[in-house]
Amino acid sequence: MLKKKINIVCIVGARPNFIKIAPILKAMSKSRFINAKLLHTGQHYDYDMSQSFFEQLGIKNPDIHLEVGSATQANQVATIMMRFDDYCHKEKPDAILVVGDVNSTMATSIVASKRGIKILHVEAGIRSWDRTMPEEINRLLTDAIADVYLTPSPDAVQNLINEGHSKSSIINVGNIMIDTLLNNQQKIDNSNIIDKLSVRSKEFALLTLHRPSNVDSDESFKAILEAIDEIQKKIKVVFPIHPRALKKLKEFSLEGIIKGMPNLIITKPLGYFDFGKLAKDSKFVLTDSGGIQEETTVYGIPCITLRDNTERPVTITEGTNELAGNNTGKILSLYNKIMNGEWKSGKIPELWDGHTANRIVRVIENEIQWD
Ligand code: UD1
Ligand code: UDP
Repeated sequence: MLKKKINIVCIVGARPNFIKIAPILKAMSKSRFINAKLLHTGQHYDYDMSQSFFEQLGIKNPDIHLEVGSATQANQVATIMMRFDDYCHKEKPDAILVVGDVNSTMATSIVASKRGIKILHVEAGIRSWDRTMPEEINRLLTDAIADVYLTPSPDAVQNLINEGHSKSSIINVGNIMIDTLLNNQQKIDNSNIIDKLSVRSKEFALLTLHRPSNVDSDESFKAILEAIDEIQKKIKVVFPIHPRALKKLKEFSLEGIIKGMPNLIITKPLGYFDFGKLAKDSKFVLTDSGGIQEETTVYGIPCITLRDNTERPVTITEGTNELAGNNTGKILSLYNKIMNGEWKSGKIPELWDGHTANRIVRVIENEIQWD
């Protein structure tokens, strides 16, 4: 048990980070031994990609804001590193807590490592084995230098052991994303987004897209839209569009294709409760998101993942997820399986139970050597 209060800086930068940090900050605020600060790198900055989640999920205002904004991968990482290094030099925190696999996660971890500040990685150990994904590089580098690995599932534990990390540094705490999902069911159920968009429960599909492998090439973006065109002839498709996808849609002049789809409903990125309501009430989801593969598994909603691989294999082996890549034929064949009532039912993976944040705080208080 801790004798002194330890100073931990919790790092966020991009949309999924906000959703993961909310329950952790709440659990930390109840601990007598943890003094938690919140640092926002500014990787995401639009109201709908950032502030909206702070307001809806009751996240405190960041104590530190690095205001890095968008740039190339190298430029963004370098700016975060320089600004965060200044902060660490002045404040000398005992540890940082990073979540997930975005640039902000990796950049701040490298700085902390060089300054001898402990790194606690939440969602450690997951691997897509696809090094063309920027996130896979972020995961590998963060896990190479982290001190404590807080994993969401047994496959992640095994990956870390295979990479040579000591068993005592790995604690399987479960899926933090699901804490937020389960803690907010009432608010999700109360959302009026179904009426607002004039769709009917179980009579629409939900689509999200933002991976560079899908939207940064006009060929793959078009191949996905071809499948969506067929699907929207039979069922409405709601598409809350990520800023990266919107930018690329314009750059590749794909607006014409979209306009020819009367049953495709495009919205801005949605708030957490509205999006959750749509995911829960949809007939199925098409996505390349990491977190949404997990959320659909918990809801028991069929999920067609528009990727060739996933770092979240339990969503396939235990949950309701299947991979289609950006292959038009494969997407349509999985869609037909859903419409024919032939989809698997799935179950909720172990420790995806809404108590992960409390387990993380218990680990910090009882299982880490603080000196
Ligand atoms: C980032 C993460 C990705 C995560 C995703 C969640 C990395 C390498 N990628 O991808 O792992 O799944 O966030 O959504 O860290 N933009 C805006 N407004 C914003 C934010 C971004 O317009 O508030 C636009 C900018 O044109 C920017 C582009 O979106 O260049 C991409 O943003 P960036 O943070 O680099 O990557 P994401 O695709 O959002
Ligand atoms: N999400 C949201 N509004 C949207 C799209 C997604 O609130 O319009 C939520 C979704 O419920 C999940 C998270 O954002 O909790 C997933 O983030 P994203 O897909 O941006 O990142 P990834 O999980 O792929 O890293």
